[in-house]
Amino acid sequence: MSNLVKTALISTLFLFSCQPADTDANGTDTVKADTKAEISVARKGVGEADILKADASSWLSHGRTYSEQRHSPLNKISQNNIADLGLQWSYDLGTSRGIEVTPIVHDGIIYITSTWNIVTALDAKSGAKLWDFDPVVDKEQAAKGCCDVVNRGVAIWGNDIFTGTIDGRLISLDAKTGKKNWDIQTVDKKYPYTITGAPRVVKGKVLIGNGGAELGVRGYFTAYDAESGKQLWRFYTVPGNPADGFENETMEMAAKTWTGEYWAAGGGGTAWDSMAYDPELDLLYVGVGNGSPWNQSIRSPDGGDNLFLSSIVAVKPDTGEYVWHYQTTPGETWDYTATQHMILAELEIEGKQRKVIMQAPKNGFFYVLDRETGEFISGKNFVPVTWATHIDDETGRPVEVPAARYGGKAPVLQLPGPLGAHNWHPMSYSPDTGLVYIPAQEAPWVYGDKEGYEYQNGQWNTGTEFQFAALPSDVATFKALKAMVKGRLLAWDPVNQKEAWVHEHDGPWNGGILSTSGGLVFQGTADAHFAAYNDKTGDKLWDFFTETGIVAAPITYELDGDQYIAVASGWGGSFTLGYGGVFPTGSKATVGRLLVFKLGADMALTLKADTSSVDKSSLPTTDASAEVIAKGFNAYANTCIVCHGDQAYSSGLVPNLRYSPITKSPEAWKAIVMDGALATQGMPKWEGLIDNETSEAIRAYVISEANSVFTEEFYENN
Ligand code: HEC
Repeated sequence: MSNLVKTALISTLFLFSCQPADTDANGTDTVKADTKAEISVARKGVGEADILKADASSWLSHGRTYSEQRHSPLNKISQNNIADLGLQWSYDLGTSRGIEVTPIVHDGIIYITSTWNIVTALDAKSGAKLWDFDPVVDKEQAAKGCCDVVNRGVAIWGNDIFTGTIDGRLISLDAKTGKKNWDIQTVDKKYPYTITGAPRVVKGKVLIGNGGAELGVRGYFTAYDAESGKQLWRFYTVPGNPADGFENETMEMAAKTWTGEYWAAGGGGTAWDSMAYDPELDLLYVGVGNGSPWNQSIRSPDGGDNLFLSSIVAVKPDTGEYVWHYQTTPGETWDYTATQHMILAELEIEGKQRKVIMQAPKNGFFYVLDRETGEFISGKNFVPVTWATHIDDETGRPVEVPAARYGGKAPVLQLPGPLGAHNWHPMSYSPDTGLVYIPAQEAPWVYGDKEGYEYQNGQWNTGTEFQFAALPSDVATFKALKAMVKGRLLAWDPVNQKEAWVHEHDGPWNGGILSTSGGLVFQGTADAHFAAYNDKTGDKLWDFFTETGIVAAPITYELDGDQYIAVASGWGGSFTLGYGGVFPTGSKATVGRLLVFKLGADMALTLKADTSSVDKSSLPTTDASAEVIAKGFNAYANTCIVCHGDQAYSSGLVPNLRYSPITKSPEAWKAIVMDGALATQGMPKWEGLIDNETSEAIRAYVISEANSVFTEEFYENN
């Protein structure tokens, strides 16, 4: 195993350094700490200097650079020749679940992650597989994830690759061989933590957060030594129980903004995706998620801002010490995370050059902040929002619409919903046009109190009633609600806080963005197309059918003088699981791939035959009473819906229960639902969480949906 000694380097004063492997007689690592710069030729790898150099031929960090602009200066593929762009190679991921990965490219190798955290290294030119690594995740634990068994990619540092797993581990692999260096647990498995985000590496420290605030956890992010995997520091994003003592003054300060027994369900605030780093200011920025439970009237009954929920937090990367925060949604109660992608840029605002950080979080407002101080510069809604009228310029706080705070009041239909006006799908910022390209959406939700809510470990603990948000069974309301749901590629002028151009898609949950100095913006869509647009006008210039929908963001790299564009296909994640069936897009589930394009290439994508053999000729029937079916609906909406889909009609990522033969047999149903017969396949065991009578009521509800007016043909035509 290797032992690199690295030192932080950001200017010409310092140099990136590394040392040859150093292993003691027992074969265990001995870590040599050295603060002085050293150069060794024995083993060279990726360091801060390399990432900062931002060499466009590779893609060394999640957002390409620490500023996370996701813009490449490469321009060989341009508006003039984009028509010649074609498929050079594709790699079949052999999965039917969502693929959210941003590949990392270094030294002619492209590194990706797939379902159940399989890491694969491919020759970036030919697509030939060099190695893959299966961390053998605990799939029973994985079933506690909120939003599909997805992963957003690896990080590279030195000669090693770092990846987080759905069961909470952080793993270091040798980049050349895929052999494991170390494998550590970053979470307490008693609680439903998951990792889906890509690690970042700053100054030899691997940074990783986690998710789980839907089910009830306390959020944090941690720095580990890249060499040894040793924990260096941890930053909690919300305070714990004061009786246990606060970890630091920051937590003591944060606790003053909470009320009641806020720690009962963990409090939330998970940092499950976005990070950025400014080497000049030496500040690490981390996006913090929603509260747990969502419903603030339960979580913190007497109100309060509830720091650091829905905030951008700036810390010192050496120590994890708090520097500043900006809270996008004080007293968060709608699952309005601020974990969405953050971009660092220099903007001229009112005649002054400002170092800014920009974010378009779930709550629907686009924020420009001073990243040195956290000072609010401007904020404007980038989609229609109904929960707040505007952001007060003086205070930087949203001005809420009173009815939006649903706790103790009537349920409220609101824009945005928990799927967000913008979710994790990365944006891009082009310094050429000065525009931010946002995968924006309109996805409403009905928020309402859950009567008699009680915390249950292992269940969704939102404190809201999901039945209100389920699509209605009367056709007219169904159609009206469906018509409210939209998706678009939005070009946003951050200086003037206004739309520059917009391209409407057929629906929401589309892919992340790449912009290039070829004057192009690339994005994949839910309806299985990968397209390029003119960065100034939004005109569509090129389009490729990918068979399955795209949620991931594209990247670009250069090898031997050729520019390549790579994107992972595989439609999945929370919207797809919940609504992919009732909002059909023409995307097929079972064909996740990595697709790599080049000028002059013209490989045809080998489309997969439809192998699903669903027998709809003999649907089961039920003689259960309307009351039982209603009970089944309520239970389904609060347990199964997040994976098996609204109206019990799934997107095909997980079995479509309506046509499952299992519904015909109470015994088989019980074995799977209550006794956990498929637990090792990611189907949770519900024993202890629901009783058998409820499970049977769910079965009756599923059968009733199978015989309803809502059919595959209905969904496709309405
Ligand atoms: C975390 C996601 C998740 C949730 C929540 C979930 N399931 Fe599943 N379920 C799955 C997956 C994944 C499978 C397929 C497992 C496999 O590969 O065999 C599955 C399979 C099943 C099957 C077998 C279907 C077949 O034809 O093989 C039944 C029945 C089922 N689920 C019922 C339920 C019920 C009832 C609930 C709610 C009480 C529920 N599930 C909640 C993920 C989920």
